Amino acid sequence: MDDFIAGLPKLELHLHLEGTLEPALMLHLAERNGLTLPWADAATLTAAYQFDCLQSFLDLYYQGCNVLRQEQDFFDLTWAYLERCASEQVVHVEVFFDPQAHTSRGIPFETVLAGIEAALQQGERDLGISFRLIMSFLRHLGEDAALTALARTEPWLDRIHGIGLDSSELGYPPEQFIRLFARAKALGLPLVAHAGEEGPADYIWQAIRQLGVRRIDHGVRCSEDPDLLHFLADTRLPLTVCPLSNVRLRVFPTMADHTVLTLLEQGLCVTINSDDPAYFGGYMAANMHALVAELGASREQLCRLSLNAVEASWLNLEAKARLT
Ligand code: HPA
Ligand code: ZN
Repeated sequence: MDDFIAGLPKLELHLHLEGTLEPALMLHLAERNGLTLPWADAATLTAAYQFDCLQSFLDLYYQGCNVLRQEQDFFDLTWAYLERCASEQVVHVEVFFDPQAHTSRGIPFETVLAGIEAALQQGERDLGISFRLIMSFLRHLGEDAALTALARTEPWLDRIHGIGLDSSELGYPPEQFIRLFARAKALGLPLVAHAGEEGPADYIWQAIRQLGVRRIDHGVRCSEDPDLLHFLADTRLPLTVCPLSNVRLRVFPTMADHTVLTLLEQGLCVTINSDDPAYFGGYMAANMHALVAELGASREQLCRLSLNAVEASWLNLEAKARLT
């Protein structure tokens, strides 16, 4: 099975670049930028990765973002992730970045975009990994802040392939972001949103009906609503599921409780992704290994999960045909 997982072509559709900041790189960038972190070494930092909910993780995630200052920092972050992808046979990535987590600290949007984009282009050229870049908005800062941020990035939107919505979910339902998503749609951008990670199934309905998303990030709480399950199975509207993340953030008590294979067998277009792998204990292959070890996933199921990712991706039909 190890060889099978290693060789299986993979696509990653739910990945926060800032969540790939490994402890060693965080410490290195802190030193390079003359910053002092509260953790002396990588072991102490990793020991701090004990989360009891989404918010407890986000508090650390935004602290980690603080070491990202220069264009080179964003390049190094993205490049390290792509090298990891190459070593795991990940052939296509659709990745998020959180511009507001950087512009709010005075880092120019151009600096962030230039570093990330240069690494993604080099990854396509040298590693053969195709990509899409999704600009995500932070729900906890509210819709007005997101609309302002979107307006400020309009000069660069031809280099952005989609719009997402992430950060604290409970108390920030999708219906609070209707104007933001209408504006992004008018600009011609494909839309996705995190929903149904900690929030209820109704947040998933809101994202679909009121925001018009073409993919749901997480979405695992759809199991609580039979009508929603039927809708997702009928329409094949994809869910980008992140098993290790869900267990680390206690969306499910253990991996043995995870419902992703049940959803797969119910005919939903579920895919496997790593979310914030530096914080949650593993990249794509580790997520697949966990499904095999704890849920007894078969080779055929892993193949179907990868094929679902091809279907759910924003690759053109010709590229999809090459992967199937
Ligand atoms: N959920 C919500 N927001 C996020 C996450 C997540 O898993 N990772 C980074 N921002
Ligand atoms: Zn996420």
